[in-house]
Amino acid sequence: MTNRYTIGLIGARGHTGREILKLIDSHPDLELVFAASRELAGKEVSEVAPAPAGLKFESASPDLLADHQPDICILALPNEASQPFVDAFARHSPKTILIDLSADHRFDENWAYGLPELYAESQSLKGARRIANPGCYATAAQLAIYPCLKHLASPPSVFGVSGYSGAGTNPSPKNDVERLSENLMPYAPVGHIHEREISHHLGHTVRFTPHVHPAFSGILATVHMTFRAPLSVETMQTLYDKTYAAHDLITVQTDTPELKDATGIQGAIIGGFSVSEDGLHGVVFAAEDNLLKGAAVQAIQNINLALGLDILSGIKTI
Ligand SMILES: NC(=O)c1ccc[n+]([C@@H]2O[C@H](COP(=O)([O-])OP(=O)(O)OC[C@H]3O[C@@H](n4cnc5c(N)ncnc54)[C@H](OP(=O)(O)O)[C@@H]3O)[C@@H](O)[C@H]2O)c1
Repeated sequence: MTNRYTIGLIGARGHTGREILKLIDSHPDLELVFAASRELAGKEVSEVAPAPAGLKFESASPDLLADHQPDICILALPNEASQPFVDAFARHSPKTILIDLSADHRFDENWAYGLPELYAESQSLKGARRIANPGCYATAAQLAIYPCLKHLASPPSVFGVSGYSGAGTNPSPKNDVERLSENLMPYAPVGHIHEREISHHLGHTVRFTPHVHPAFSGILATVHMTFRAPLSVETMQTLYDKTYAAHDLITVQTDTPELKDATGIQGAIIGGFSVSEDGLHGVVFAAEDNLLKGAAVQAIQNINLALGLDILSGIKTI
């Protein structure tokens, strides 16, 4: 237990919270000191996920931060719920590294934007104290578009499908298992917050339409791009090979990834490079697990960078 960084998690009952609990438990340098959930307060954390014996869920109130001053705290809360906690940290524990999984700080210049494979340096993730974790679709889409950015002639179009865990645990049509059975549900055809997030951070307009599929997790993004000058399939794949050569969580392959290939894995798979006869229209596919590279794994990568640890510490690559 010595020399480990203390970490708290607020929003520990949720889908991403449970994945984060597993990753913290297997991380050699992190020690969970509190996990907060209003619904599970008083229950042993180890009843729902691996956790230190005897640790009980605490109520998710900003007051709990006066008692705990962890080195790191992850906020895995719905959008627009984080501010009271962020304010309480500023009052009680300003040195704590905060990782926010919601969209609340993804457009805030006072927060680093934590998609490490693309922005570790430009966002100064090493040593950062406030990190906005990217959205799940936004992660897949940016990884898929970034290597072709300089070649784009117009806004790329992203057709994204996600498992229903992407909609969180609050009941809605997007996580209604009965309605989703043998179904595919489009929503937010224009103006989804991830469309703004992708465009903002790539510095290029992108069109994005999300859909929910009936499985629990998994994202597949199909990206159409038009190029300023003809590209061959080989040139296109080389752009991706070079961009991700040093990044162990990103697999670049010739074959087209399918949704199931990425379910349960820590990283993302990019492949299926295809180009029209005139070389001006290209398609690429990206697959990831929305709860892992799309959320929990990325949060741990960001913590590792903020602490100056190996970026893959506590993350198994499979
Ligand atoms: N699911 C994904 O694939 C995914 C991927 C990337 C990012 N994200 C983002 O990550 C965040 C968490 O997503 P999720 O899917 O884990 O959501 P979720 O399953 O709905 O869990 C939300 C958690 O927040 C707690 N909570 C809800 N409202 C609260 C409030 N007002 N104050 C304190 N606690 C509150 C809930 O527990 P109690 O009600 O028991 O307190 C629960 O633990 C969201 O912002 C989401 O957009 C999700």
